[in-house]
Amino acid sequence: MTWLITGGAGYIGAHVVRAMTAAGEAVVVYDDLSTGIAERVPDGVPLVVGSVLDAERLARTLTGHRVTGVVHLAARKQVGESVELPLQYYRENVEGLRVLLEAVTAAGVPSFVFSSSAAVYGTPDVDLVTEETPCVPMSPYGETKLAGEWLVRATGRATGLATASLRYFNVAGAGSPELADTGVTNLVPMVFEKLTEGAAPRVFGDDYPTPDGTCVRDYIHVLDLAEAHVAAARALRSAPGHTLTLNIGRGEGVSVREMIDLINATTGHDRAPAVAPRRPGDPANVVASAERAATELGWKAKYDVQDMITSAWAGWVRLHPEAARA
Ligand code: WQD
Repeated sequence: MTWLITGGAGYIGAHVVRAMTAAGEAVVVYDDLSTGIAERVPDGVPLVVGSVLDAERLARTLTGHRVTGVVHLAARKQVGESVELPLQYYRENVEGLRVLLEAVTAAGVPSFVFSSSAAVYGTPDVDLVTEETPCVPMSPYGETKLAGEWLVRATGRATGLATASLRYFNVAGAGSPELADTGVTNLVPMVFEKLTEGAAPRVFGDDYPTPDGTCVRDYIHVLDLAEAHVAAARALRSAPGHTLTLNIGRGEGVSVREMIDLINATTGHDRAPAVAPRRPGDPANVVASAERAATELGWKAKYDVQDMITSAWAGWVRLHPEAARA
């Protein structure tokens, strides 16, 4: 099969591209390079520079490369920014997906894997989030991912397209230093940045109803996440018309304070965190039940939080050599 990977020049996409090629699949990357980096696309993998809003380029790419499956990761992904720019988020994440699905069904492509997010759940009031937990997104970003799942599922029902929506929990780590996340929008890089500046990492709120008062999340290594895409792509190949919705997490909660302690220890620092006010909209506890992915895909995470921090730090030091001396 030949898989079109939209957003394949992004942080997660670059890992998915490598996992798919290592699994023997042919891949083509489609990316507008707005946040993606062309150098992340490996030699020998074609890169088509284009927007998912460009119906003609999509149609030409799907037929020209004889694409038989799509993994769709191209999207805007910042929760805070989505509150400021809801129209842009709906345009790129929902309209972009609609245009892509139109091209996919017109070209008769049989399989579609969609990048969704735990943000669809909002502030779940349960210890372990299952796929049956009600979805009440708290941001335009989460709304676009939930609307995207509906669009994917409805298209599957109407056309027989086999679909999988993967709800990523908190992604961290890197498969190699060059592939590390270059954004500083999540906990791990934000703590690295503070340590590099010689400042105290911040804890956004320590009065949550959790064991140590700080928020608990389910961190997943980007290498495990990439393997989940390979497993989903394979599952769809033998299941025309099938629809899967799956949590992709480890099923294990780690608190912000535990993460900062581990980052300090791993990077040779000893900076006590400073307690800052709660960040609006942060849920206390979001941990996946990872059972359905295990049952449906035979997929399970292999890496732990230590692996994520060690590999993310190697990538951080590569981009910020001064960090090694901080
Ligand atoms: C984790 C925890 C912070 C920085 C978001 C999206 C989600 C997905 C991943 C896109 C929270 C705390 C953070 C810091 C801190 N996005 N924190 N000090 O908010 O769980 O998830 O990113 O696909 O949809 O909602 O991730 O990494 O921002 O924060 O205390 O300097 O760390 O308050 O509790 P979050 P995060």
